[in-house]
Amino acid sequence: MTMTKKKLIAGNWKMNGSLAANEALVKALLQGAGAPACDVALCVPAPYLAQVQSLVASSSLALGAQDVSAHPQGAFTGEQSAVMLKDFGVRYAIVGHSERRQYHGETDEGVAAKAAAVLANGIMPIVCVGETLAQRDAGQTEEVVKRQLAAIIHVNGHCISEIVVAYEPIWAIGTGKTATPAQAQAVHALLRAQLHHAASEHAAGIRILYGGSMNAANAAELLGQPDIDGGLIGGASLKAADFLQIIAAAA
Ligand code: PGA
Repeated sequence: MTMTKKKLIAGNWKMNGSLAANEALVKALLQGAGAPACDVALCVPAPYLAQVQSLVASSSLALGAQDVSAHPQGAFTGEQSAVMLKDFGVRYAIVGHSERRQYHGETDEGVAAKAAAVLANGIMPIVCVGETLAQRDAGQTEEVVKRQLAAIIHVNGHCISEIVVAYEPIWAIGTGKTATPAQAQAVHALLRAQLHHAASEHAAGIRILYGGSMNAANAAELLGQPDIDGGLIGGASLKAADFLQIIAAAA
């Protein structure tokens, strides 16, 4: 079975942007990206889904969301369902970002339910896993990321080939402190082995992204590691020139 696995470069805008800033950013990306050799997604704040959907229409840039409800509809004030995301052409949804786990008390089980909700609607979840600095220092990195991924596999094992995993060491997010390529590769290899154990025929094709201060200067080396299949990029995805350089590095 030969499968060509395109790298995925996903921008996570977090809670940034405005109608004017988004338009300028997306137009610069469309102009600079041409026909990218990798898949590219923009995970935008919910109020801007419609705007960015129309900006990226019939381009090679895919639309992504940053979170989703695990529920299909109903009395869940402030939330968006996977069906609603699909209505706006969303192709990817980040689930279980560490900021959601930290500030909104999201659990491994809750994140797995969110992944199931988007998968049921044909949207690829980008499932985030990663350890805190204290956990790394205590030698718990492997245990933490394996527990987080195991919850996803437990609920979504039957459609594991439709999942994207993002390893984001929490100490590297927004800190300018990137994991070294060797540190990242070591964790990616663990996650790959766990996926292999769960679904040997699909494990090689599942994309495992690295996230945490990836930027134009360090992207090529990180993306050159054997088990790093793309990036989830926060800060550097807000600057067109930087994001375009990361896209080029993934070619
Ligand atoms: P960063 O964020 O690139 O700004 O470190 C990555 C993320 O949180 O997804």
